[in-house]
Amino acid sequence: MGSEHRVLRRRSRIVRVVLVGLSLLGGCARERATARDRSAAAAPALHGPADALIPPGPLGAAIQRGRALLVATRDSLPTHVGNDLRCVSCHLDAGRRQALGSWVGVYARYPQYRPRSATVETIEYRVNDCFRRSMNGTPLAVDGVEMRDILAYLWFLSRDVPIEPPPPGNRLQKWAGLTADTTAGAAVYAASCAQCHGPAGQGTAVAPPLWGPKSYNIGAGMARVRTAAAFIRENMPFDQPGTLTDERAFDVAAYISAHPRPDFPDKIHDWPNGDAPPDVAYPTLAAQRKSRGAPAKAHAP
Ligand code: HEC
Ligand code: HEC
Repeated sequence: MGSEHRVLRRRSRIVRVVLVGLSLLGGCARERATARDRSAAAAPALHGPADALIPPGPLGAAIQRGRALLVATRDSLPTHVGNDLRCVSCHLDAGRRQALGSWVGVYARYPQYRPRSATVETIEYRVNDCFRRSMNGTPLAVDGVEMRDILAYLWFLSRDVPIEPPPPGNRLQKWAGLTADTTAGAAVYAASCAQCHGPAGQGTAVAPPLWGPKSYNIGAGMARVRTAAAFIRENMPFDQPGTLTDERAFDVAAYISAHPRPDFPDKIHDWPNGDAPPDVAYPTLAAQRKSRGAPAKAHAP
């Protein structure tokens, strides 16, 4: 079991190194190869600017280094990553995919007020949020070269996008009407996910883990059932995205979220105004204060 595990790990590292090599050397050619990206060619704005627009010189080099960090996060920043994910495990197509978590335009959406922290977050803060939660790791120095290069890439992907507040409304609201059936979710998992993510969610050479000690932690956005459902509905199964119904995506998201994953002790300080959404799987200090004092207000989406 142990040695099998090590072999798998090694294989997964080799696959990743190959993937990284491909995306660095022949990013464009590889991208052109898929059906998804043929449709991308029809609507380039949604997928960000073409690589050919990366400027020459030091700025272009910073953009390329930033992308390399996001693609090979664990190998490049081992002390900041505490699991088997890389940034682009969720931000697909190096953040270009038009779906939940797209980085196209992200540089223009910050600073932004977010209720989870109840502060106006800078883009550096938001990047580090994913390091601490999604990567179960530690934040980068906000004035360091790694952060600078990552921001250079996010900035490049956001050129031509006007600076404006994030769109109003709650994109996750559509999931509020559904009730999850984790038994149905287990069946979806076995039929459509396990072959890549492993029968025990542990990850394989071709796909990262979905739960367990090497996955994202409980404080990550993906640990929320609605966020996971939206991601899965749009992007999974990886080889046949868009083939699950809303119900099946919600069921399998609930099934995944019902499994253990790393803790995030700081989570009790989240949503300090007591406005945590209902699919947040952990208690917060503010919610406890509320339930002891005045009756908790219904969550305003
Ligand atoms: C486990 C999945 C996962 C991983 C891994 C991950 N993220 Fe995220 N990230 C998310 C989700 C989910 C969101 C919220 C998307 C939304 O609500 O639109 C998000 C949001 C973001 C945003 C803000 C997007 C916006 O439009 O406001 C940035 C920037 C970001 N992530 C950067 C990173 C970086 C950098 C890494 C690697 C250090 C990373 N993420 C790793 C899941 C992940
Ligand atoms: C053909 C293989 C394949 C199948 C089938 C598949 N996935 Fe994935 N999945 C991937 C790959 C590959 C990634 C990461 C993409 C990357 O690193 O570029 C991923 C990423 C994810 C992520 C975000 C990263 C993480 O590990 O937390 C989630 C969540 C996810 N898949 C859920 C599912 C679910 C649920 C199903 C079944 C409905 C499914 N996947 C089916 C290959 C697959």
